[in-house]
Amino acid sequence: MRAYVTGGTGFVGSNIVKVFSERHGATVHCPVHRFVPAGTPGFSTERLDLLDDGAVQASVDEFDPDVIVHSMILNDFAAMYTDRDLAWRSYVGTTESLARAADRAEAKLILVSTDWVFDGTQPGADEDTPPNPVNLYGVLKMASERTALLSAERAAVARVSAVSGMHWLRDSTPRVQDGGFGYLVTSIVEALEAGEAFAVWEADNINMVASPSLASECAEVIWRIAADASATGVFHCCGADSVGRMELARLACEVFDLDVAMLASTAPDTGATGAVGEFPIPYDTSLAVRRTREVLNYEPPGVRELLARFRTERSTGDLAGR
Ligand SMILES: NC(=O)c1ccc[n+]([C@@H]2O[C@H](COP(=O)([O-])OP(=O)(O)OC[C@H]3O[C@@H](n4cnc5c(N)ncnc54)[C@H](OP(=O)(O)O)[C@@H]3O)[C@@H](O)[C@H]2O)c1
Repeated sequence: MRAYVTGGTGFVGSNIVKVFSERHGATVHCPVHRFVPAGTPGFSTERLDLLDDGAVQASVDEFDPDVIVHSMILNDFAAMYTDRDLAWRSYVGTTESLARAADRAEAKLILVSTDWVFDGTQPGADEDTPPNPVNLYGVLKMASERTALLSAERAAVARVSAVSGMHWLRDSTPRVQDGGFGYLVTSIVEALEAGEAFAVWEADNINMVASPSLASECAEVIWRIAADASATGVFHCCGADSVGRMELARLACEVFDLDVAMLASTAPDTGATGAVGEFPIPYDTSLAVRRTREVLNYEPPGVRELLARFRTERSTGDLAGR
């Protein structure tokens, strides 16, 4: 399979690239933006700004993929709210460009999306539950989902949620903690391993409950969507369990053999993030994996299993599971 992966140097994208190329032997091409991976990454790259529609069309034509996985995002809430035009073009515009390019190549388009298309009062939302985003990121993702599904001949949406795991190309995370679950387990493990305490944010105005996933397992589900010609529509790429932030933190301590007494609870640090409190964040974004189970014949792992695999990936430097 020939896979064109956008955002392949990002956190989730680096897992998609690794699972597709190393585990499944796909030939992977990534447009890269500001960060260029060092050495021989195991996939081909080219400098490309995905906002440049002409360059995108030429690049996809040249690579001639079987599948396009679109995981690139403008990962900057402040920039999104300040420059709405840039935000729209980055999310919806790039999806529209890639839908056209995918059709010309007769490729399937898979858009990586998020549990934040739901409003936080829809616990257990499944793949058919109508989204109701409460902030600009969720709106842009919902609009991108519709664009992918309605514009491309063959399209799928892969919603990932509360993602933990390895970033295979970079050592540090962009944030220690935010209003979502991203980076939370990594930050807890890094702090406690260094002998430092960690204060888990708990408040009514942040994402308190979600369905955690492991980035490499999300990538595996995305591979199955790519490999199955009949797999189109919406899929939920997350684990089988829904947990609260502190419950996840405690489970991480158990699985990584860390001292749970080093955990504390605190209010979000609005000064550090500049985000919490500035826009609405969905409270409970737990997901159901109903259609994904049926269509892909897939059984999502529980949260302990996903954390155990993350521990293995951290210690071995290689993919775990499957
Ligand atoms: N992380 C999570 O917890 C989480 C949760 C739910 C959903 N998701 C979804 O997962 C996907 C990936 O998120 P992530 O956290 O992995 O993001 P990330 O680490 O911030 O990666 C974003 C990627 O997009 C690239 N990019 C940004 N602007 C670009 C442009 N104009 N042209 C080309 N490339 C550009 C970045 O390259 P440069 O760095 O070089 O600019 C980077 O490779 C997104 O669709 C997101 O909505 C993530």
